Amino acid sequence: MLKFSKFCFKVSDNLKSYYYAALKYPCPPNLNIWWNMGSMLFLVLGVQIVSGLFLSVNYTNDELMAVDSINFIMRDVNYGWAIRSVHMGGASLFFALIYTHIGRGVYYGSYMKNRHLWYSGVTLYLLSMGVGFLGYVLPWGVMSYWGLTVITNMVTVFPGGSRVLEWFQGGYVITTLTLKRVFVLHFLLPFVILGMSLVHVLLLHEKGSSNPLGLDLSNFSIPFHPYYTSKDLVGFAFGLVALVALAFTFPKLTADPLQWQIVDKVKTPAVIKPEWYFLYAYAILRSIPHKVGGIVLMFFAIFSMALLPLLSNGSKTQSMVICPIAEFLFCIWVANFMFLTVVGAQEPAGVWIMGGQLGTFIHLLCLAGMPLSSVAWESLLFHEEE
Ligand code: HEM
Repeated sequence: MLKFSKFCFKVSDNLKSYYYAALKYPCPPNLNIWWNMGSMLFLVLGVQIVSGLFLSVNYTNDELMAVDSINFIMRDVNYGWAIRSVHMGGASLFFALIYTHIGRGVYYGSYMKNRHLWYSGVTLYLLSMGVGFLGYVLPWGVMSYWGLTVITNMVTVFPGGSRVLEWFQGGYVITTLTLKRVFVLHFLLPFVILGMSLVHVLLLHEKGSSNPLGLDLSNFSIPFHPYYTSKDLVGFAFGLVALVALAFTFPKLTADPLQWQIVDKVKTPAVIKPEWYFLYAYAILRSIPHKVGGIVLMFFAIFSMALLPLLSNGSKTQSMVICPIAEFLFCIWVANFMFLTVVGAQEPAGVWIMGGQLGTFIHLLCLAGMPLSSVAWESLLFHEEE
């Protein structure tokens, strides 16, 4: 009996410490709406996992039956059309949120506070890119097949890549075996993302949140609950409205019409392009008319995000609000992202190739310029003060 009551005390102690760690977690008092994106990402991730589970019970991962199973979901399964529209709209919303979340981290210099947290975010982004890409393959439309062909062929530029490609495809060409592997990975990876997101939040709790001023406000903290639980609920309401609008009002807003055509393995479409959220990377890939060069540049442009904490070494404050040059570069960086997105959707010829090259140059220049100019500006300010 004594042992049992000791055990109960220990459990209640643990629960108390979890309660304090999660709900009473000390937060800066001035977090603005850009700090809502993380919790909204969790919401959309949950919606994607649940709607995905419902879709999987009716989807068939066979080359000859995939399209029919999608039509079955859209026409015969009760609310199948709604679940699929939510899943498609949810993917777009997820990436819109992730880009805003990254933008917040860059503008307010959140990456300076805790490098490990930033690297876990970069990993989450890469995993999400993988899941988004694999999901696009499943409806087995024209873009699914040709998109898969373009992306999987990238591994052949690495030594031993052809063997890896053959192993992944389950043969020399894309067949049902490939589609099955794509489906398994698309099913599995979101759970890895979920686990990684929890690690991400644990890492956040290690050093606490940054804030819009970029200063240490630990003496002015307020508890997460009720201040930010209530604020996050407002974010959830906006997130759900956006999701419903995307799924039910504009279900085909971002989809390529070719996705509604059955795969033709013989006829390559004139323009092969991914969903809008990968177009910037695709524009960078095609900006160099050389396979290896394009692939290396694209991976470098994506991974360059991970270099930000190294470039800002020695910075005293974090936020760009005190540095007009970095702020200017940030605006150019965001506008250039949109420009690259437009370029990625065009046929890779003439002026669009040059546009891609210019956009890639500006992207890398801004990414390096933002942290470096912040550090330089700060040293100027603090030098004057001394
Ligand atoms: C599945 C994707 C992700 C989820 C579910 C997620 C979730 C969260 C949550 C809940 C927070 C706390 C609230 C907030 O600050 O918004 C947060 C903070 C943060 N996230 Fe993410 N995140 C994801 C992806 C990313 C990515 C891709 C990056 C960057 C590459 C990133 C970098 C950060 C940083 C630096 C913070 C700390 C912000 C601060 O200092 O206050 N996250 N994330």
